[in-house]
Amino acid sequence: MLLTDKVAVITGVNSGIGRKTAELFAQQGAKIAGVDIRTDRMEELKDHVEACGSEFLACPCDVRDAESVKAVFKQAVKRFGHVDMVVNIAGVSSDRPITRTTTEEFERVMDINVKGVFNFCKFATPYFKKQRQGVIINTASVTGIYGSGMGCPYPASKAAIIGMTKSLAFELAPWNIRVNAVAPGVINTEMVAALNEKQKQSFAKTIPLKRMGEAEDISRAMLYLASDWASYVTGTVISVDGGYRPSTVNP
Ligand SMILES: NC(=O)c1ccc[n+]([C@@H]2O[C@H](COP(=O)([O-])OP(=O)(O)OC[C@H]3O[C@@H](n4cnc5c(N)ncnc54)[C@H](O)[C@@H]3O)[C@@H](O)[C@H]2O)c1
Repeated sequence: MLLTDKVAVITGVNSGIGRKTAELFAQQGAKIAGVDIRTDRMEELKDHVEACGSEFLACPCDVRDAESVKAVFKQAVKRFGHVDMVVNIAGVSSDRPITRTTTEEFERVMDINVKGVFNFCKFATPYFKKQRQGVIINTASVTGIYGSGMGCPYPASKAAIIGMTKSLAFELAPWNIRVNAVAPGVINTEMVAALNEKQKQSFAKTIPLKRMGEAEDISRAMLYLASDWASYVTGTVISVDGGYRPSTVNP
């Protein structure tokens, strides 16, 4: 197993990529502090993690709220003794043209997708510095690299994640803290379920590997980055996108 006795704080575990990552990390021996603003599927996840012979701590938390994020680390350390890694997966999308994007919507996307990740990186760092090791994995997006014809707040937030990841990799390397990101393409989760059929078909046609990705495709890349197999990897963004490049027009 790749993560025996490691402790992972993972955000966005109630659904999609976060949930699959929590399951995979538990199968690989990690204890999980699972964070989400929603909790309706947490109990089910706890059962799954425990069935793998591991432990699960449910941490209901809005990633925007610094005090709640600070409390997550306190709870995780109290329960498990230490934290080895933070995997920032919680996020929201937004797909309106700029003239129909309100300032409030822009701020909502930035607050969750950027400030939320900042909060977890900030409050993990003192623990990681003290133990002189740690792993941070962020979730970017192919749209943060290439842009998108389907609204600018989301790609802007994901481009910010890439900047934050690369900068923190430099800043925290002296403490042996590795910081990387995964940039998913179009992945079959609730986030994409919000798209209409026409948009989904249009996406599938433009993906060179001719299928949308599954949450597991992303979790496996995260597992690699979390494991000691990636001990010489920091400041990088791994694209997992089937070769997909976002369309320059709104489908
Ligand atoms: N699905 C895709 O095609 C795709 C593509 C590129 C990147 N991503 C990124 O992957 C990540 C996971 O997306 P997903 O597809 O699994 O979506 P999802 O909607 O299934 O999961 C997102 C999770 O984040 C949680 N969340 C939202 N706001 C929160 C908040 N304020 N505080 C705490 N938790 C909050 C939700 O409750 C949910 O459980 C996101 O960062 C997303 O931007 C997804």
